[in-house]
Amino acid sequence: MAKILSLFLILLLILLSSTEFSQADEFIFRGFKGSGSKIYLDGAAEIEKNGILKLTNYTPRLVGHDFYESPIKFKNSTDGKAFSFSTAFAFSIIPEYKKLGGHGFAFTVCKSKELKGAFPNQFLGLMNASDAGNFSNHVFAVEFDYVKDLELGDISDNHIGIDINSLISNASANASCFTQDNSRKEGIILKSGKTIQAWVDYDSARQELNVTLSLSSSKPSVPVLSFHVDLSPIFMDYMYVGFSASTGLLASSHYVSGWSFTMEGQAQSLDLSRLPSVPCPRQKQLTLLVGTPLSAAALLILASGISLYIVRKIKNGDVVESWELEIGPHRFSYKELKKATKGFRDKELLGFGGFGKVYKGTLPGSNTQVAVKRINHESKQGLREFLSEITSIGRLRQRNLVQLQGWCRRRGDLLLVYEFMPNGSLDKYIFDEPKTVLTWEQRFKIIKGVASALVYLHEEWEQTVIHRDIKAGNVLLDSEMNGKLGDFGLAKLYNHDADPNTTSVVGTLGYLAPELTKTGKPTASSDVFAFGALLLEVVCGRRPIEPKAMPEELILVDWVWDKWKEGSVLEVVDPRLKGEYDELQVIIVIKLGLLCSNNAPRKRPTTRQVVRYLEGEMPMPQVLEYDEGQKVDDDGGRRVEESENSSYPLSSLSTSICDGDIEAGTMSPPLPRGDQRWT
Ligand SMILES: *[C@@H]1O[C@H](CO)[C@@H](O)[C@H](O)[C@H]1NC(C)=O
Ligand SMILES: *[C@@H]1O[C@H](CO)[C@@H](O)[C@H](O)[C@H]1NC(C)=O
Ligand SMILES: *[C@@H]1O[C@H](CO)[C@@H](O)[C@H](O)[C@H]1NC(C)=O
Ligand SMILES: *[C@@H]1O[C@H](CO)[C@@H](O)[C@H](O)[C@H]1NC(C)=O
Ligand SMILES: *[C@@H]1O[C@H](CO)[C@@H](O)[C@H](O)[C@H]1NC(C)=O
Ligand SMILES: *[C@@H]1O[C@H](CO)[C@@H](O)[C@H](O)[C@H]1NC(C)=O
Ligand SMILES: *[C@@H]1O[C@H](CO)[C@@H](O)[C@H](O)[C@H]1NC(C)=O
Ligand SMILES: *[C@@H]1O[C@H](CO)[C@@H](O)[C@H](O)[C@H]1NC(C)=O
Ligand SMILES: *[C@@H]1O[C@H](CO)[C@@H](O)[C@H](O)[C@H]1NC(C)=O
Repeated sequence: MAKILSLFLILLLILLSSTEFSQADEFIFRGFKGSGSKIYLDGAAEIEKNGILKLTNYTPRLVGHDFYESPIKFKNSTDGKAFSFSTAFAFSIIPEYKKLGGHGFAFTVCKSKELKGAFPNQFLGLMNASDAGNFSNHVFAVEFDYVKDLELGDISDNHIGIDINSLISNASANASCFTQDNSRKEGIILKSGKTIQAWVDYDSARQELNVTLSLSSSKPSVPVLSFHVDLSPIFMDYMYVGFSASTGLLASSHYVSGWSFTMEGQAQSLDLSRLPSVPCPRQKQLTLLVGTPLSAAALLILASGISLYIVRKIKNGDVVESWELEIGPHRFSYKELKKATKGFRDKELLGFGGFGKVYKGTLPGSNTQVAVKRINHESKQGLREFLSEITSIGRLRQRNLVQLQGWCRRRGDLLLVYEFMPNGSLDKYIFDEPKTVLTWEQRFKIIKGVASALVYLHEEWEQTVIHRDIKAGNVLLDSEMNGKLGDFGLAKLYNHDADPNTTSVVGTLGYLAPELTKTGKPTASSDVFAFGALLLEVVCGRRPIEPKAMPEELILVDWVWDKWKEGSVLEVVDPRLKGEYDELQVIIVIKLGLLCSNNAPRKRPTTRQVVRYLEGEMPMPQVLEYDEGQKVDDDGGRRVEESENSSYPLSSLSTSICDGDIEAGTMSPPLPRGDQRWT
């Protein structure tokens, strides 16, 4: 009997040492071994053998959740005030490649443990694009985010944030911690792979929420983030507590090794040395292991691994050079893409893009639809730079840029994998005899979308990226007819290819800024010129150079100018709109189109200004100036003034009109189609 009793006691002790429960509103997990019944898991989440909880693995675009199984009372039903709570947890983030990985991890209190329809990537598995920001979400989260998303106003690529019903943080701070004596703040790199302990404390009486971080077992007395908030409206009477994590284009494993929670009290801090450790990071190395003391066996395994890899790659015909590995994990295998596009079957052909054929594909495994662009590119020159540029833009996201999902190189072929745009390219809806005529609202939304993508490329990203080939054919439409700019930087690849001794101009006739034919140097301003041409096309429903048109209407911008001067500019508006449009918006777009089409780069607005005009944040200039390069008159060229009503311009021209304003149009005879390349 005594034996049985002691056995029972030992068993109890073992149980207690890993999990202790007192009430439903207080618990502590030191590892999650044997706690399956207390923890609800979904998505990619699982409990590993040693008891560590793994929310995601290295698969892109994953979501993983774990919640405390039973709901917890968070609110006093008598006075409707949220209770105080306190929690401490230990987590680690291991990026797939050293220093490269995404997307983020969050502690969350929400109304349901089944976050159905929640998206990965920047949505952290908490909500989706349609419900983000909705007050009926009842989601509170503390995010640990290591991807800088400009749309969400993220302050850096290593921050913590307090999120209420939305992923736009109400308060955020760079990840850091105070030293024990509070004398110094030290940075913490979230994706360093180290175990980080975080405390989230809410004081109901003071309506104060603190987030504290540390790399050790003891809690610093100063929080990194303190926010004054009343959580009562966000909480319902019963809420679920847990964690959510997601991966994006780049992936990371997210682990939770311990968790304590207390309602109306102070959560016990976790002793990190008593928690299960993160499994040896099977992180892919991108650097050579020269000089690292490795055991002979490990070296042998490594060597055979590498040779196997190389043999496999040679068999597949993929060309892999060391710099390609540095660019990161966007690389698809040729086999995968071949399967996705059913062997690049003609039936899957979506069209002929600027630089090659575009195929529709379905990625095996995930069933994600993609567009695969196959470009023949024999030269390696410029390829490396081009790939690192587009893949790093791919890491940041912009709603109006067609998202690059990955790439592959095989012999002379470069394959770029993009998100699939179900509604095709804009040119199909505005030129010739479109099946569907876009309404003015749709056109205006598309224009604004493209403008915001351009601002991102030109000004918001770390370095200025010149698109070089803005035109209707490169504006793609998603299922909701939002305009997204595709093919950024591709033209550059072809510039690199050219004989360096001749200045080759790449772009599309009609969209080429005149200075390009002289200097050959594309600038943000030459992109603005092309955007101007696009604006006029969308309003007028015709190509910048329309060979079928009457001679005086051949060059779109000249024709619009003529009509503007005559004071009958609304005559240029696409007749297919049947007069149904917002006159003020149309005038703004036409005026902006003319401003951007100025022959002098200095006179064109900046991309930022373009967006401000379109958003109505800045009034359009009253006077339009048309600089004619060498033909400028004393008064600065031709002027057109607008009436106060702004619906019809008054014409007050002081100089005569000269032909050949658009030099790009006169340098060579018009091509049969406006979208043909001119090199
Ligand atoms: C709930 O609110 C009522 C009224 O303010 C108060 O008497 C009661 O003690 C509160 N209960 C808790 C658990 O705080
Ligand atoms: C977004 O999430 C809500 C639930 O929060 C769900 O009802 C809706 O279907 C989801 N939307 C999409 C597009 O998945
Ligand atoms: C918020 O969500 C509710 C229910 O899901 C829905 O009825 C409401 O229209 C949404 N509000 C907004 C602004 O999207
Ligand atoms: C938090 O931010 C959301 C929008 O991001 C806003 O609607 C809400 O009012 C903010 N809440 C607090 C308490 O500041
Ligand atoms: C956060 O860190 C980034 C870069 O590390 C820095 O540019 C930014 O100013 C910091 N923000 C705050 C609020 O400290
Ligand atoms: C938040 O931190 C401050 C110190 O900066 C402290 O005075 C306060 O008590 C803390 N509040 C909570 C709820 O822990
Ligand atoms: C755009 O795509 C959506 C979804 O694929 C489709 O329902 C819609 O009809 C398309 N719109 C046009 C104008 O083709
Ligand atoms: C470019 O010009 C330089 C000298 O002007 C010459 O040495 C070189 O061979 C030329 N390169 C090519 C590719 O023609
Ligand atoms: C402005 O337009 C209104 C009608 O839209 C017209 O009655 C008025 O005369 C116009 N004013 C000027 C200065 O053209």
